[in-house]
Amino acid sequence: MKVTVDSRAPGASQVDLLAVPIAADEARRSRLAPRLAAIDRAMGGAIATVVASGDFSGKAGQQVLVYPDRRRKAKRLLLLGLGDARIDAEALRTATGSAVARAVAARSTRIAVVVPPIGAGTDPEAAQALAEGAVLAGYRFDAYREANDETSRVAAVTLLVGRGQNLRASREAARRGVTIAESQNVARELSNQPSNILSPEQLAREARKIAREVGLRIRVLGVPELLRRKMGAILAVGGGSSRPPRLVALEYSPKRATQGARPVCIVGKGITFDSGGISIKPAQGMEEMKHDMSGAATVLGVLRACALLELPTPVVGVIGAAENLPSGTAYRPGDIVTAASGKTIEVLNTDAEGRVVLADALHYAKTEYDPCAIVDLATLTGACVVALGRWATGLFGSHAGLVETIRAAGETTGECAWPMPLFDGHKREIRSEVADIKNTGGRQAGASTAAAFLSHFVGDAPWAHLDIAGTAWTTSPPGGYQPRGATGVGVRLLVEVLRHWDASKLASPGSGVLAGAAPPS
Ligand code: BES
Ligand code: MN
Ligand code: ZN
Repeated sequence: MKVTVDSRAPGASQVDLLAVPIAADEARRSRLAPRLAAIDRAMGGAIATVVASGDFSGKAGQQVLVYPDRRRKAKRLLLLGLGDARIDAEALRTATGSAVARAVAARSTRIAVVVPPIGAGTDPEAAQALAEGAVLAGYRFDAYREANDETSRVAAVTLLVGRGQNLRASREAARRGVTIAESQNVARELSNQPSNILSPEQLAREARKIAREVGLRIRVLGVPELLRRKMGAILAVGGGSSRPPRLVALEYSPKRATQGARPVCIVGKGITFDSGGISIKPAQGMEEMKHDMSGAATVLGVLRACALLELPTPVVGVIGAAENLPSGTAYRPGDIVTAASGKTIEVLNTDAEGRVVLADALHYAKTEYDPCAIVDLATLTGACVVALGRWATGLFGSHAGLVETIRAAGETTGECAWPMPLFDGHKREIRSEVADIKNTGGRQAGASTAAAFLSHFVGDAPWAHLDIAGTAWTTSPPGGYQPRGATGVGVRLLVEVLRHWDASKLASPGSGVLAGAAPPS
């Protein structure tokens, strides 16, 4: 999909569909706002007619499709309701998302979208959000389907900014939005791949391909190297499958790096299929566990975007890839495995495999790269799905400043990351009587005890953990810019964090319950 930004009058653009986002208060006014009146005149009064009919109130998500007379340049006019709330970037993403979906249904391949004024933000921000919405909505997982009627695609989207607005800045922002959204689509595509295709080895191959395309250094550790490094945790989880585990590291170094700048490490859970292992899962819904490598997919998407956007901060992505299957060589409940850090783990449930793999991946990130911060992403716990559902990613951490940076970025990018507690009590809960720690706590606070497990492998580096179990894919009907399946959650979020990264701000750990200072025990 080609996205361009133009300042020509909307009425002059020759397209299959012209989308005009309109806020509820604009639709309520007795006379059209100047920006709409101009479009209305060029479209032969179509907007005024629809608004006067009462069929369009500007309610969020509302759509009215109009066929203007043949003298008009645009074949179709789509009025899009933006709703009453303050118009933010997410409202715009959703609006272009639904415009693209509507265009696909109408077999329109060339569309234009009028960029509306956005809350307190700037026009470039609006252009970025609209570009993201368009590219994200254009994604479909159809590599394994024959081409058919439903596969009509929007080929070109023109974002129309008003005259007098900063065209240059809007163009740059739209280009950035396209890069970020395409990287998110790369993450979605990987997460959507079925597990027969995407083994740990294949995931490493895909990482290689991305690294080559955008210019990242890559290291892939196979079984001999994992053995040499005594990575007993990832080896235990991967041991049940005939398709062996891999640890992958991708390195992005900016061309003009600050001398001695330490990288930010982002670490992803890459379980290419999670059957539960010997502690096998129920059959119902098990197919969704092909997505259990979504954290790894997001890491790849983020690194791709970092390279293409030439961000000023060095970033390293680390992926622990393994397939969790039951077999004669699988690890078992009761086993005690030794992680690369030397810590021993009592395995109480082989289905709590993500944290076990991350034990070695986090340790590798910390010891190989001396990062200034570590952020991990993992489809880690069903408990997080129970707590936050599909509405928010669980956000845990050892460092209040880092946690707040990520939370705030989520507001900007529309990927809600909600702070969750990590108490000393949670850490006590996973102490083992026969090993250093055990891989499950009791029934209580499962997402927090999982985070507490991870905290053992990051040392004192500022660290945040994103539990994306509820947000990495969706089984709900398609809406806005999100089709069914993988979401690519975390790509926009972490690119936003990294774009504005300031390591000096991490100096103080901050305080509060997030840093583990709260009393409950
Ligand atoms: N991959 C799952 C977590 C998950 C569940 C993600 C549902 C998305 C949707 C993880 O490996 C797992 O099985 N966790 C267990 C841990 C338990 C055995 C302590 C869980 O949450 O049930
Ligand atoms: Mn599991
Ligand atoms: Zn899992």
